[in-house]
Amino acid sequence: MRIFRDIEGLKVWSLDQQNASRRIGFVPTMGALHEGHLRLLEHAQSACDVTVCSIFVNPVQFNNTEDLKNYPRTLDKDLELLEAKKCDAVFIPDASEMYPETPQVKFDFGNLDKILEGAYRPGHFNGVALVVSKLFNMVMPHEAYFGQKDYQQYMIVSRLVKDLSFDVKLKCVPTTREQSGLAMSSRNARLSPEERVRATILYRSLRHAQAKLLEGKRVSEVKTVVEEMCAQAGCRLEYLSLADRKNFAILEQVTESADCILLVAAYVGEVRLIDNMMMTE
Ligand code: PAF
Repeated sequence: MRIFRDIEGLKVWSLDQQNASRRIGFVPTMGALHEGHLRLLEHAQSACDVTVCSIFVNPVQFNNTEDLKNYPRTLDKDLELLEAKKCDAVFIPDASEMYPETPQVKFDFGNLDKILEGAYRPGHFNGVALVVSKLFNMVMPHEAYFGQKDYQQYMIVSRLVKDLSFDVKLKCVPTTREQSGLAMSSRNARLSPEERVRATILYRSLRHAQAKLLEGKRVSEVKTVVEEMCAQAGCRLEYLSLADRKNFAILEQVTESADCILLVAAYVGEVRLIDNMMMTE
């Protein structure tokens, strides 16, 4: 497995792949790799000739310095996992390689970066759009793989690709879950064993809300119950929202015409987790 720390080395390798007509599959990550990331890599491997994974804890997408400081970092283990999975190349730049100067560019995604994660984490999607644009320019992938758990991020990146004409095919891979239903996330590494059990409330809330909404209940009614369920589990609900999965318009009820997604964010102790579920899942 090739390991690149500098942009130039990575670009030379990527251009060699392009010149040899090899399709590059890209899995961008912030490390602390888990089964979910490895599933993304497997999807990339089955569709492309070579795969690149990036590991970069992107400081500009954190709106909270404590969250950035506490983000799990397990580089040696990550590299072992990628080597064992036969990933072809890994890009592990440091912050000065990615941001030699303070970036000034600002993105505006209309409503998409103002709601849900955008509302609770101001500036987050600006940082995501910035680093993903830079990574696409460096890796030059044909396909890029993102997890459904961060569905709003996937929508943002889809918009980015359309508006800036990136020649990259995006793939959204279903969320990998533990047996308990807990969505795999790097942030789970920060949970104590007891919190890990409590964290299953996100999945249980989604299942409960899905059933009630399909019976015709309104989101506001269901949210009151889910808030209570979370409190009982010792967690704090931040939002439970229903959205049209194509344009991310927030909905109050399931409609015949819309393909809907249900999204949740909650604090389990100090750790903020998100999850979602398609209404038709
Ligand atoms: O989903 C993530 O891990 C990050 O937001 C991403 C896409 C790697 C950008 O830093």
